[in-house]
Amino acid sequence: KSTILTGITTTGTPHLGNYVGAIRPAIKASKDANASPFYFLADYHALIKCSEPEKVRHSSLEIAATWLALGLDTKNATFYRQSDVPEIMELTWMLSCVTAKGLMNRAHAYKGVVAENEATENTDPDKGITMGLFSYPILMAADILIFNAHKVPVGKDQIQHIEMARDIASRFNHIYGEHFVLPEAIIDDNASILSGLDGRKMSKSYNNTIPLFVPEKKLKKLINKIKTNSLEPGVAKDPTDCTLFSTYQAFASEQEVTDIRQQYAEGIAWGEMKKILFEKINSEITPARERYEALMQEPAHIEQQLQEGAVKARAISAPFLLELRKAVGIQKIV
Ligand code: TYM
Repeated sequence: KSTILTGITTTGTPHLGNYVGAIRPAIKASKDANASPFYFLADYHALIKCSEPEKVRHSSLEIAATWLALGLDTKNATFYRQSDVPEIMELTWMLSCVTAKGLMNRAHAYKGVVAENEATENTDPDKGITMGLFSYPILMAADILIFNAHKVPVGKDQIQHIEMARDIASRFNHIYGEHFVLPEAIIDDNASILSGLDGRKMSKSYNNTIPLFVPEKKLKKLINKIKTNSLEPGVAKDPTDCTLFSTYQAFASEQEVTDIRQQYAEGIAWGEMKKILFEKINSEITPARERYEALMQEPAHIEQQLQEGAVKARAISAPFLLELRKAVGIQKIV
């Protein structure tokens, strides 16, 4: 069986980008009888960007309810909270000790903050950079490697991290023998990086998201807020670099996309396009939204699912960690 694994950081309400980039392909993959899915709430990752405990706590509930509402089969999938699997943190240290600092210097998340500091003529290029942010790809590698995942469904922004996990795994295998599978990213073709309301990548950190399960009215309002150019109705429009178009593409069939392309050429009004986009997204998520709202009223049920998931996860991670400890020489003397 091929192991599929992915996680979402618990720093906010899941948004359309998380859905098309990771959750939707992961749910699809979980239905394959030959797949062994591991999906988790990356709550230790949350501390890298967020020091609001209440936000981290509530986000865990929202993200868990999202997975369940979208039909994750927890019988087949192992669904857990990262912090319930302490072996991940232990493995993080082992991996830290084989990871070159130079590799981490190249990580986008870290480099992005350095670049921002430099752009604002900050005298300290490392301002605001914690060791958590700097070594974030190592924690992510541990998430993946502890379950020897073969495939990792993620959005394009995470590809570099999967490549780093491969590098780190190879290094460990080279030094201590073959313990880890080298993971591969799975990227959904028609869902590139979804843009947010302002046209930048949709991201919790930019405050430009469309939450997945906002009430219908709010969804309509948010879609109406998506930035467009000021071309009038009747004037031909270019689908390239158009948030409305690329978002539509993530939800529609090929034929529907071809039709809309034609309508762009014929000068569709932005208001009309927003209406079409709203209908498309809304019809896909409405059934799950209802389940989500019900699940949010049942936190104990959700916690129960996570507890069961943790037991399943640790039945694998605990013996594997012992094997790894032994491989590096951490074991009882006799
Ligand atoms: P996070 O929480 O930022 O995002 C979760 C998933 O959603 C995808 N995503 C997007 N996809 C398309 N368009 C967007 N605008 C968009 N925004 C987010 C992300 O690519 C991701 O797949 N470090 C990870 C979480 C993580 C993880 C892991 C993932 C921790 N450990 C192990 C896979 C395997 C993160 O911060 O994702």
